Amino acid sequence: MSGHGTPIPMTSHRADPLTGIAEVPGDKSISHRSLILGALAVGETKISGLLEGEDVLDTAKAMQAMGAEVINHGGGNWSVHGVGVGGLAEPDQVIDCGNSGTGVRLIMGVMATSPITVTFTGDASLNKRPMARVTDPLALFGTQSVGRSGGRLPMTIVGAAEPTPVRYTVPVPSAQVKSAVLLAGLNAPGQTVVIEKEATRDHSERMLAGFGAEITVEDTDEGRVITLTGQPELKPQVIAVPRDPSSAAFPVCAALITPGSDVLVPGIGLNPTRAGLFYTLQDMGADLTFENMREEGGEPVADLRARYSPNMKGIDVPPERAASMIDEYPVLSVVASFATGKTMMTGVKELRVKESDRIDAMARGLRANGVMVEEGDDWWAVTGLGPEGVPGGGTCESFLDHRIAMSFMVMGMGAQKPVTVDDGTPIATSFPIFTPLMTTLGARLETTA
Ligand code: S3P
Repeated sequence: MSGHGTPIPMTSHRADPLTGIAEVPGDKSISHRSLILGALAVGETKISGLLEGEDVLDTAKAMQAMGAEVINHGGGNWSVHGVGVGGLAEPDQVIDCGNSGTGVRLIMGVMATSPITVTFTGDASLNKRPMARVTDPLALFGTQSVGRSGGRLPMTIVGAAEPTPVRYTVPVPSAQVKSAVLLAGLNAPGQTVVIEKEATRDHSERMLAGFGAEITVEDTDEGRVITLTGQPELKPQVIAVPRDPSSAAFPVCAALITPGSDVLVPGIGLNPTRAGLFYTLQDMGADLTFENMREEGGEPVADLRARYSPNMKGIDVPPERAASMIDEYPVLSVVASFATGKTMMTGVKELRVKESDRIDAMARGLRANGVMVEEGDDWWAVTGLGPEGVPGGGTCESFLDHRIAMSFMVMGMGAQKPVTVDDGTPIATSFPIFTPLMTTLGARLETTA
């Protein structure tokens, strides 16, 4: 859990040239899904490279509370003895998902078609986030829910004892909603169909197939049509979690804006539904290359090499790319501050319902550091000040949002004056080794207890 402790301010001073190898942790999305699908398989799933951030640890605890045996063998190696599809037990305590929207929404999905009742809560950030986007489609299976006004946590979900499969078009581009419906469909007899108009991260589809579920994906005029046959027996897997492109974004972007930098970030998953940031940076003129392209566990993987890039230009980021880089807009806006010209980001309304309202959080912090930002409901624009042109010197609120905190720490590495966030503790939700890793590269981060 995060956000329950005392806030710890964190300051990033202008960095030395960032050099060396940045081994970022395992992918957060794949880590959650490994534990959840492992809990539904019959037998032992072995996971290596699991992200041991607070979000994922909360999901591990939840699966344990619902009857799976989850064992930490150390060094990122975990095993899960699953209970089989439909075998989850009713937990005797409230399930606290901490800061994690992915955790709570996927777990709601997975229990929604079992005859159990579960009460969910989270930290102050998660308890503000909309859950109706998940409980609305789950109601179609016969699931009931009661939460606070506006469909907020804490919330109790009563799983459907006799679920019916559904056909559902996801109204917002959200992999969490898509995945919740698919996971619910696992324990409904017959075919559950989920249609998404815009492709979002497809880890659930890939991993369900890997665990032996019958699942097909078709591109049609309606969108991506995903059809899952319910009540399969899932087979345990051996999973090597690839390193997280969303975490790689931080050392990559830091190297681009810090004079003299040359950083290698090895083994990064480049699934096309996740890699949009890296193509956007290349479009801006970043010196970013993909080396040693290969395939691992069915996913494209590369070593990313990022060097200081003083000639980056602001661009219009294609809105159709938004879903593939949705978590990366905060740190992109930092890079945009160091480019020349305006970077326009459109089709990004979903940023307003993440761990924080990320457009608002970044706009406030960027302005506090001397950068001009314009914003509307569904768009924002950052006017770059060129390499060496960002004044810095500001204090920003991180709003219990790990990516906001890390983005401003990156900003301080290239800015003229230090950049401070009021609370660096949320970083532990997704990137617990951020400070030692960035410090080894040459960052100068200071926490004030
Ligand atoms: C995630 C989906 C995305 C993303 C989140 C992880 C997932 O959320 O922002 O960090 O693992 O499915 P949305 O589904 O809200 O877009």
